Amino acid sequence: MTDALIIGGGSGMGLALARTLLAEHMDVTIVGRSADRLAAARAELETAAEGRVGTVRADIGREEDVAGLFDRVGPVEHVVVTAADVTGAYGPSTGVASSAARAVLDTKLLGAWLVGKHAAGRVTGSITYTSGINAYRPNGSNTIVAAANGALTSLASGLAVELAPVRVNVVSPGWVDTPVWDQIGMDKQAAFTDMAGRLPAGRIGTVDDIAQAFLSVLRNGFVTGTVLHVDGGHRLV
Ligand SMILES: NC(=O)c1ccc[n+]([C@@H]2O[C@H](COP(=O)([O-])OP(=O)(O)OC[C@H]3O[C@@H](n4cnc5c(N)ncnc54)[C@H](OP(=O)(O)O)[C@@H]3O)[C@@H](O)[C@H]2O)c1
Repeated sequence: MTDALIIGGGSGMGLALARTLLAEHMDVTIVGRSADRLAAARAELETAAEGRVGTVRADIGREEDVAGLFDRVGPVEHVVVTAADVTGAYGPSTGVASSAARAVLDTKLLGAWLVGKHAAGRVTGSITYTSGINAYRPNGSNTIVAAANGALTSLASGLAVELAPVRVNVVSPGWVDTPVWDQIGMDKQAAFTDMAGRLPAGRIGTVDDIAQAFLSVLRNGFVTGTVLHVDGGHRLV
């Protein structure tokens, strides 16, 4: 049995979670599309992993990949999904191509559902999805990403009942410095400084803030059908 499957674990929050779970003596399989990214992540993790990290290439938006992933991995205690293809989907809707919007829905929403569908009968503990602050705090852009994030709440509620006693939850991060920001095309440091000054927490989130939130959701056997907001109070300002 694999302790944890992290779909999107080759970078950002997923990679931080892999590091956290390895430190908790769990074994981990990380999943993504890029073989190079997975190899680099594995090389980074291996020093602490002692052979406890596996990699699988799969695209969460393709049903044959998701089915093949669960066939290959077999029984798994926890599944965490951080994967999303948001390329070209940030900014006002007038500037977003429908192909980019479709890719968001295919990966972030339909991909999440495919994971629930193919994890059924194989996952024993929990599935945790990743949404995001823009579902709760519209800012005049990124609307299709926000819509997919919002829909994950309903998906997790439905699957929490459908797959019970497997627990199904959502972690909703605020702004966190990860590679996804490189696709957004803004002055990241200026935006982060401005946002940090507005947030009750007084700072931007770290990948470890989010990894700790995933860990608490994995560990707490009474949490299901819930969204855990880890956003420094962003929804309040
Ligand atoms: N960073 C933030 O401020 C923030 C805020 C709110 C919500 N979020 C959400 O948090 C989640 C994690 O993002 P992150 O910030 O950690 O960004 P990230 O470093 O870009 O992580 C995303 C990972 O998903 C993988 N991925 C993308 N498309 C995939 C696909 N179709 N199939 C399989 N894997 C795929 C990527 O690897 P490959 O490209 O190799 O596949 C990458 O390793 C995302 O859902 C994002 O929308 C982020």
